[in-house]
Amino acid sequence: MLNKKSVKDIDVAGKKVLVRCDFNVPLNENKEITDENRINGAMPTINYLVEAGAKVILCSHLGRPKGEFNMKYSLAPVAKRLSEILGKEVKMAEDVIGDSAKALAADLKDGDVILLENVRFHKEEEKNDPEFSKALASLAEIYVNDAFGTAHRAHASTAGVADYLPAVCGFLIQKEIEIMGKALSNPDRPFTAILGGAKVSDKIGVIENLLEKVDSLVIGGGMAYTFLKAQGHSIGTSICEEEKLDLARDLMKKAEEKGVNLLLPHSSVVATEYSKDAEHKEVLSEDIPDGWMGLDIGQSTIDLFSEEVKKAKTIIWNGPMGVFEFPAFAKGTTEVARAVASADATTIIGGGDSAAAVIQLGYGDKMTHISTGGGASLEFLEGLELPGIACLEDK
Ligand code: 3PG
Repeated sequence: MLNKKSVKDIDVAGKKVLVRCDFNVPLNENKEITDENRINGAMPTINYLVEAGAKVILCSHLGRPKGEFNMKYSLAPVAKRLSEILGKEVKMAEDVIGDSAKALAADLKDGDVILLENVRFHKEEEKNDPEFSKALASLAEIYVNDAFGTAHRAHASTAGVADYLPAVCGFLIQKEIEIMGKALSNPDRPFTAILGGAKVSDKIGVIENLLEKVDSLVIGGGMAYTFLKAQGHSIGTSICEEEKLDLARDLMKKAEEKGVNLLLPHSSVVATEYSKDAEHKEVLSEDIPDGWMGLDIGQSTIDLFSEEVKKAKTIIWNGPMGVFEFPAFAKGTTEVARAVASADATTIIGGGDSAAAVIQLGYGDKMTHISTGGGASLEFLEGLELPGIACLEDK
């Protein structure tokens, strides 16, 4: 299991500390933050550093501005929100490594916090350019990575700077790797993984890695129809990755060999088209009529999946069970969320859509852990090394 040094393993008092956060939060047209989960996730580290008397220099990306300055992707709304949460001004630099950043960093008093502009305003960020990393590192004396959501990227601010500064993790990365790491290396059993989402191709690595570890694998969402077709069932016009049918067969065979109980939707809610008002009905998944597509799991599937969840002691869930954004096809995801929330188990929700669904349904505080990483949590569950974590010092 990963055992990285954290902010607690290094003396930060009076030191300039560059903290990479993942403040890639959604904004509405009024530049208001519509989901604060990632900001809240970063607060324990920021609060700790402030209380310990560090001079805190926060940095992050927001969106994909492609290496150019673009006000649309400014982190200013985040600075404003951080000021409100901390109850003191978080000054915002106009640039990342320029005069404004340097001046604000030089002016910092113990316990002060500043935020640099979007690191992706420089094309060197995503190229992990050494000179840019060095310039960023020169603002500080210690580097803390707490951007779990971006830990799968080998960029200057997520990995490159660690070549020039003592590098440790913040509490968010520590929590993410501790909880998900334990589930992968030493889970309380039975261990159930629930995977959903539209495509098998997005989850191949995760399924392969989890088949080595879980007792049961529950598959819902659009990706289930590739498996059902691979079993020889008629799936109507349901989403299907034809080129992944052989792979689906191999994965099912592997599950059988490993003694993993693989559960697929027994029934589906099918519709005549992909739209929120489409005519719909419930049918057995093995016999979806021509011209109909599966957009959610059916009631008997909800019951089957909920029973499996009830037996588990460790649950990892990633990907919705149906087209959750359309109310007529949200019940599968809602009911699975309810089942996971009431399970007497360690419950881990992978980031992205399933995390958003769980929070929106009000089950956020019923889960052991909701990951702040979308792509990063998938890569972690795949068993891959994340550059933003690998670059940190071992204990
Ligand atoms: C995310 O939203 O998953 C992270 O912030 C990473 O963003 P990216 O996919 O643009 O690198």
